Amino acid sequence: MSERYLSLIAEADFPESESYAAVVGGWYVLATKDDKGYNALNDRCTHAASLLSTGRMRRGTVMCPLHGARFELASGKCIGGAYRDLRMFPVRVVDGQIEVAVPEEKPSMADLPIGG
Ligand code: FES
Repeated sequence: MSERYLSLIAEADFPESESYAAVVGGWYVLATKDDKGYNALNDRCTHAASLLSTGRMRRGTVMCPLHGARFELASGKCIGGAYRDLRMFPVRVVDGQIEVAVPEEKPSMADLPIGG
């Protein structure tokens, strides 16, 4: 599955809340910022497909608003619950613009959140 980098948001406009959700190339992306830079993950819980961007984020994790699974924002690893890890997308910054690499193919139902 090949990927291409698409524009997400200007670094200068990245919210102070340090998270930003958007649809990029048809993919639901949740981007976050930490000490090491930006992370981007598929904004879809691997349990029952809830949007994660509406969940509570703290200490580098996000808690799914539906049933409470927790995932590491930097790695997508499921650390609270027995679910698959999240799909991560590569991120880069070019000329002050944050770009995310998403697959060229449109997401399947298994990649899309409910209520998105
Ligand atoms: S949908 Fe996320 S924990 Fe159930």
